[in-house]
Formats: sequence, structure tokens, C-alpha cells
Amino acid sequence: MRISALLGLMALVIQEAQAMPPWINGGVKQKQPQDEGTAYNSLELGSYDPNLENYDLSSYEEQTIKTVYGDLTPKTKVGTLAPSTTRVSPKMVTATMAPRTWTAVTTPSISSLLNALTAKGLPTCLVCVCLGTSVYCDDADLENIPPLPQETTYLYARFNHISQIQTGDFKGLRKLRRIDLSGNSISTIEDDALLLPDLQELIIPENKLVSLPKLPGSLVRLDAQLNNLQGSGILPDSFRELKKLQFLYLSDNKLDYIPVPLPSSLRSLHLQNNHIQTIPEDTFCDAQDHKQIRRALEDIRLDGNPINLSLFPDAYFCLPRLPIGSYT
Ligand SMILES: *[C@@H]1O[C@H](CO)[C@@H](O)[C@H](O)[C@H]1NC(C)=O
Repeated sequence: MRISALLGLMALVIQEAQAMPPWINGGVKQKQPQDEGTAYNSLELGSYDPNLENYDLSSYEEQTIKTVYGDLTPKTKVGTLAPSTTRVSPKMVTATMAPRTWTAVTTPSISSLLNALTAKGLPTCLVCVCLGTSVYCDDADLENIPPLPQETTYLYARFNHISQIQTGDFKGLRKLRRIDLSGNSISTIEDDALLLPDLQELIIPENKLVSLPKLPGSLVRLDAQLNNLQGSGILPDSFRELKKLQFLYLSDNKLDYIPVPLPSSLRSLHLQNNHIQTIPEDTFCDAQDHKQIRRALEDIRLDGNPINLSLFPDAYFCLPRLPIGSYT
């Protein structure tokens, strides 16, 4: 009777000990692998402070994060790199690998990690940097638009491997004002994906777009330079209702005409290095109203197109400056 009571009590104590929050015995636990008589054991124990308040909890937290999520800093790529690479010296590898338990967690790629994390409902801000309402995901091996906090106003996801944008990717992000996806591999954007009420800047140069999706009326700047945009890829009247559009950068594409009509708000139109061969008379000016002056539009680039601009004098009479290009 007494023995079974004693056993029960012991079981209870053991149970309690195991149920204790990890930081209570975290310090001791971390020492365990070294307790087996390694050379630096005494040194480590010498500096061990049993007072929890002095114990470095931040390193415990750091270690926990690394154990759970994998190390997000570049040095963990060490584990997946061949030892012969010049990026990391063998010395560093050893230093990183040695006593730490978290190095056992390998990170196949940030992208698959992110997918795994977000599938568990964990926030993008563990992988990207979130400062205020800006989200910075540059150069993070992303293959998709990551799930974003509701309050996001600026998204930077430059130099990743994103290949498409789907309708749900920016769903409900009513405060999103700037999307910068420079230098990805985006070939398709689903038609309704970018109809956001406050989107002012869509910056998407150096991708593989052949067509543009529907654009929101709030847009001020569209930068789609260095894509594969073709004339057929721009819907008729795409820009007509963009009453706030000021900067339209479509240089280095495959456009064979100037996308009209252009909103009167437009200040800058870059179409250099396309396949434009002609300019209809009413492209910039109202052919019926010769007194009209279009003051805002003072920066038009048409250089690098197979067109002789001096053949279309009637197209420029309302402009404050002639387009840049070849007149000979
Ligand atoms: C461009 O047009 C002008 C005016 O018609 C003409 O004098 C000039 O030779 C043309 N240049 C070329 C390269 O066709």
C-alpha cells in the first residue's frame, strides 16, 4: 500500500518535471550532449549560471526557432552544399555542425519551407521581413506569392522564381498600394488577380508576361518593361479608365502598336525597343480639336522601334514635346 503510494508520487513528480515549460530546464537540457565528457564541458559548466534570470534565454529561443523552423540565415545552406564549394570554408561547416542539435534540421529550400509553414497557418513574416506594413521578400527563392498580412501596403518580392499570379493571391488585401515583382518568371496573371481598390504601383519588369490582366482604376504607375508583351496581349481600352495613371513603362516588349486610348493623366510613356511601325493621328491628340494641348504628356519614348517619326507630324501637334525617336 505504502509502496504503491510512493510509486504514484514518484510518477507524479516525473510527470510534473516533464510538463514544465521548456525554458525552466532548457539550460540544463542544452548541456546534456556535452555532459558526456567532452573537452569543453568544464568550460561550459564553469560559465553556467543556475540563476534563470542570468541565463541567456535569447539563445534558447533562437535555438528553438531553428529547431522548429530550420535556420533561415544563409549559413544553414551549408548543410545542403557540397563541401567543395567555395562559398563556405570547411572550418565554418565544422563550427556550424558541431555541438548544436538544430543543424540536424535541413532546409531543402526557403520556398518549400515557406509553403510548409504557411500550410500550417504560420505567418509569412517568419520568412520575409515585415516592417510596419511593408513586406520584404526579395531574393527568397519564392515560387508563389506568399500569404500576406491583411494590413500589407507594400510588397517587395523581387528576384524570386514566381511564375504565375492567381486570383486568390492578393485576395482581401484592400490596403495594398505597391506590388514589386521585378525579376521573377511570371508568365501569367489571372485576369481578376490585381483588381485591388488601392493599388497604385504595379512594378513587374523583367518577367515573361505576354499579356496584361485587368488593371485597377487606382493605378498611378505601371512598369512592365522587359517582358514579352504583344499587341494582342493588351485588351482594347485597357488604359482608358485608368484616370490616375501617370507613368506607363512598356519598353523592351513586342508591342506593334501604341495602346490607345491613353488617359489624359498620363505624363510618361516609355515604348522604346518594341515593334511599333505606325502612329495613328488620334493616338495622342484629338484630331477634331486643334486648340487642345496635352500638357501632362511630356515624356514619350519611341526610340528603338522600326518607325520614321517624321512621317506622322499630325500625331504630335498637341504635345508639349516631340516623342524621342528617329526622325530621319
Ligand atoms: C523618314 O521620313 C522623312 C520624311 O518623309 C524622309 O525624308 C526620310 O528619308 C525618311 N527616312 C527613312 C529612313 O525612311
